[in-house]
Amino acid sequence: MIRSWHLGDDRQSLVLASFDDRLPEAVYWGPALPTGENLETLSAAALADVTGGMVDRNAGLSLCPEASESFPGQTGLTARNASGAPLMPSFRFESEAASEHGLTLVFADNSLDLSLVFDLVLTPETSLLKLQTRLESADEITVDWLAAPVLPVPAYTGEMIEFSGRWCAEFLTRRLPFAPGARVRDNRTGRTDHAHFPGLVVCNAGTSNTAGEAFAFHYGWSGGHKMVAEELADGRRQVQFGHATASLASGRHFVSAPLYATYSATGFNGAAVRFQRHVRDHVAQGARTPRPVHYNCWEAVYFKHDLDELKAIASLAADLGAERFVLDDGWFGRRDDDTSSLGDWVIDKRKYPDGLTPLIDHIKALGMEFGIWFEPEMVNEDSDLCRAHPDWVLGHADQIRGRQQLVLDMSNQEVRDYLYAHIADVLKNNDIGYIKWDHNRILPVVDARQAEGFYELVDRLRSDFPAVEIESCSSGGGRIDFGVLERTHRVWLSDSNDALERQRIQHDAALFLPASITGSHVGPRHCHTSGRTLDIRLRAWTAAQRHVGFEMDPRELTEAEAETLRNVTSWWKANRSWMMQADILRLDSPDPAVIAEQQLACDGSRFVAFAALTRPSDQILPRPLRLTGLDPQGRYRLSLVNRDEAPRLSRGAPLLKHQDLEASGQYLMSHGLTLPWRFPETVWVVEGERL
Ligand code: GLA
Repeated sequence: MIRSWHLGDDRQSLVLASFDDRLPEAVYWGPALPTGENLETLSAAALADVTGGMVDRNAGLSLCPEASESFPGQTGLTARNASGAPLMPSFRFESEAASEHGLTLVFADNSLDLSLVFDLVLTPETSLLKLQTRLESADEITVDWLAAPVLPVPAYTGEMIEFSGRWCAEFLTRRLPFAPGARVRDNRTGRTDHAHFPGLVVCNAGTSNTAGEAFAFHYGWSGGHKMVAEELADGRRQVQFGHATASLASGRHFVSAPLYATYSATGFNGAAVRFQRHVRDHVAQGARTPRPVHYNCWEAVYFKHDLDELKAIASLAADLGAERFVLDDGWFGRRDDDTSSLGDWVIDKRKYPDGLTPLIDHIKALGMEFGIWFEPEMVNEDSDLCRAHPDWVLGHADQIRGRQQLVLDMSNQEVRDYLYAHIADVLKNNDIGYIKWDHNRILPVVDARQAEGFYELVDRLRSDFPAVEIESCSSGGGRIDFGVLERTHRVWLSDSNDALERQRIQHDAALFLPASITGSHVGPRHCHTSGRTLDIRLRAWTAAQRHVGFEMDPRELTEAEAETLRNVTSWWKANRSWMMQADILRLDSPDPAVIAEQQLACDGSRFVAFAALTRPSDQILPRPLRLTGLDPQGRYRLSLVNRDEAPRLSRGAPLLKHQDLEASGQYLMSHGLTLPWRFPETVWVVEGERL
């Protein structure tokens, strides 16, 4: 007997089938099927043959491949009973419930008193699947691995893009062949981490940003994930995501984080736009609009907080166009460097004898909102908190420290209450609209309760202080995922304010993240993390591609630099209302030295293209840059915003250098833009409007 289900819209179809009440398998995932397709026939037609050297029935590549079926690859569940014996459940259909856009399927193994529930939703506006697995047990058991619903990827794929990275180089992508065997990433840092963004894009050799097929995945969890992309010996391919191995404790109720997935027939951009829109409209909600221009004082003053200096800096920042001032690390305890005081969330009277009010009043008088830095989950041994509660520390006593700090045990209610009380106190007694929430080390143990405790604390603060926005930071981009984004409004993408590095990081992060939540700051002239010296125009235009801010000491700016910054900031403010709602489309640059993107308004009425030349090109002339996502029949007027940046060595007369261009979408997408010659380390900015 076959039971079948369909989740789909006009862009994709996912067909599930349960054969003889066994766990459901995704028998089709791809372009939308016509209405009226007979799902039962299609399910039966998907059953593969059996030949010599095989068992007599192919084990189902189900939403949770089972060991009891002799599944020849990674199974979806690894569990033990109270005495440590492995559990080998064999689940059978129990019930189903359909909602408007979703499906809940319940399966049970009655002899083991286990039930397995799949919650499957397709959000119609964004065409993103959200898939979760729950396991309920009557007895206490230990679960070492529970995958979110497992999806197969078709045989016509063959490549995958996975994410690695490091501090100051988040979202590094690598394109690998999908080959026999398993590609496993098991992130045992206890946090999302710079090196392990929980994403995967399965594609084929022909897939580019703008064309071809892609199956994209993201696991929305902040505690470290495991991913398995496996090609079985029989040729089938599966993708599994779950919490990092052994991070789940013993218990009776287990749940995976949501796995977000989508199929795109329009290249990587097709999937990227769905993730971006989903984050913007369904995950990170409640952010203030228009998005305010930030000033963050970290790279200006570090731990040296002097009220008069901070006031002077704030005045200059406001003059440049800042609308929110974020007081970074150094305001609490006796925090003069990173060896002490984490955990002591009381204002340092040596630095602020009258509290923060004089600084906040000054900032408010300048028309800016005030924001403040916390790193709640951490503690220094040199702190009153650690002296009073050494038992609140997570992990063993002689563990290796990270940035001289230890981690608090967030599964402990007393720890969360302490943190809540101290943070709430600062928020109640000061006019604070924003928190930068940091997390600057990996964990000494992998334990899902740590991320769950963090979520609970943020949720409590959010519900009691709904007007306070939160930014997720973890030495830059060490905690970026949809789990944290459900509770926050912005991510600090990277500690690298090096605009050239940022171009690359922003470009790759745009596979999942929209501009409105992606913080990007104009850093100091001499970059503190790369040692490079970069021009203000490059730094300003790079930050203007996302949620913009400044992080240098504004007293270092020459008048000409300040003028450039003011101009770019006013340009950003004039455009933010539509840019922060736009889709970021990555352009396929024919010149590998150029990183380019096009931000297209949701209604297609306007766009802006940014093309950064990150190093000298191999050929002498700029290669035309093809745009995307336009109406081929539509007519557009294009203008080179920063044509005054053309250097003298640009001696010819390409049209855009001197005047606006009117052309069809077809021409712009097929031939592309002929931009003027320019120096490396510059960004061309082209605005377009539909006529
Ligand atoms: C981390 C953050 C920085 C800054 C410092 C403060 O490194 O990523 O932006 O806030 O902490 O200590």
